[in-house]
Amino acid sequence: MQLLNGKQQALRLGGSIKAPQPIPAAASRINRRTASSGVRVVAQALPSDSFPSTNSGGPASSKVATNAQATMDAPTKTAVEAATSNGQIGPVRTGATSEPDFIRLNNGALLPILGFGTFMLTDPNIFKMAAEVGYRHFDCAAYYKNEKVVGQGIREWLAADSNNKREDLFVTSKVFNDSHRPEQVRASAEKTIADLGVGYLDMMLIHWPNAFKPGMDNDFYGPVCEINAHDMTRDANDVVREAAQSQGDGKQGGCVTFDEEVTMEDTWQAMEKLVDDGLVRCIGLSNFSHKEVKEVCDMARIKPVVNQVELHPMLGQKKLVDRCFNMGVQCLAYGPLGGPNAYVPNDLLPHPVVSRIAQECGKSNGQVLVRWSMQRGVPVLVKTGTLGRLKENLWGMMDWRMTDEQMASLNALEAKKRFVDVPWKTWDTSLDDPVSASGTMSSAA
Ligand SMILES: NC(=O)c1ccc[n+]([C@@H]2O[C@H](COP(=O)([O-])OP(=O)(O)OC[C@H]3O[C@@H](n4cnc5c(N)ncnc54)[C@H](OP(=O)(O)O)[C@@H]3O)[C@@H](O)[C@H]2O)c1
Repeated sequence: MQLLNGKQQALRLGGSIKAPQPIPAAASRINRRTASSGVRVVAQALPSDSFPSTNSGGPASSKVATNAQATMDAPTKTAVEAATSNGQIGPVRTGATSEPDFIRLNNGALLPILGFGTFMLTDPNIFKMAAEVGYRHFDCAAYYKNEKVVGQGIREWLAADSNNKREDLFVTSKVFNDSHRPEQVRASAEKTIADLGVGYLDMMLIHWPNAFKPGMDNDFYGPVCEINAHDMTRDANDVVREAAQSQGDGKQGGCVTFDEEVTMEDTWQAMEKLVDDGLVRCIGLSNFSHKEVKEVCDMARIKPVVNQVELHPMLGQKKLVDRCFNMGVQCLAYGPLGGPNAYVPNDLLPHPVVSRIAQECGKSNGQVLVRWSMQRGVPVLVKTGTLGRLKENLWGMMDWRMTDEQMASLNALEAKKRFVDVPWKTWDTSLDDPVSASGTMSSAA
């Protein structure tokens, strides 16, 4: 594993990437320099479960835990030993005590290890607050139909303080299934950039490998987004629940017409052109199997940097993560908490094993599940529309660890369970992890 010099990378990429740190808003200005110099980066794609366990004693108490800056500025061993032996300071921990803040992608770009999901959110204030709280990666999509609102929140944050810089953010979007034809890839990117109003995209993904014929009445989870995007007064979770109930006719996202006239090569070349023309910095994939990732890698002039897929203890997909790693493609976790899903009841977040570990660590169930991804070296996207949870899901996530036993207990929840699924999608199950005795095989698996 290679530790990187983020500053050099930023220069090479023509940006001035600074390390976002989850610091309280009030302290953010004073701490900015410290936070920037404390960046810890890990080289592109770590195999899952790859971080060494450096602390045998379980999660760090806030007193003992060190952050990235403290780790980098640690006194020399001799000085520490001297101070310890004469009783000046307490026990000293050695080795890394926090995860890196960024993952370096195969083109050198730095991806924050923790990102903010935007699906179903319609209040610009939540995005402004998310940036204020310290999130730097915003995961958007044309399909979410809320990019204008996301952009409004981000722009309000940028306007609020001259220290808030566009280049400190990592903004991702996705080309949807009905825009796979080259001219539509371009049109989709241009619309997204205009809607967000942030000048360029840090990353553009192909949302799904499946192309839908444009102009048809393709029904994905359409109504869910349509309803929510046009009714700002509704709670997103209620909207999902209602949409699920109203689609009890078996039509749930099933009526699509596949586009036989466009190949993945056509689409990928159009994606590469977006990079050539300076519209986006990185291009990648989402919901691709390892075979589909390989197909793109084999033909690519510009390699995909990520494959954004559903990952949580009930769907570990370790082999997919490892295969992508070997191809230089970083898996990026979505739906770490089981998502806002009424189609498949969420038995992950309240699972007794998750609750037990949360109690042992003095953390919430949500924090345990986000931590699970980070601790296996996989960057993760988490979403909340609740202001209090913005902080909960980010602050204090960097300086504690679960024990190997706790990680193993979570891994044992493997159930091949997808919270995000649609009838028209045939998943490649050839790399599925075995379901363990304690795994709860579900109807969605
Ligand atoms: N590429 C793809 O196909 C794809 C698919 C799905 C998702 N994604 C991306 O991944 C992001 C995250 O996934 P997701 O939105 O599906 O779901 P998620 O982050 O796994 O879960 C979000 C749900 O958990 C709740 N929640 C958040 N923090 C919590 C906490 N600390 N304790 C308890 N509950 C908590 C939220 O409710 P509140 O809002 O009430 O807090 C919301 O209902 C998405 O927003 C999207 O950007 C991509």
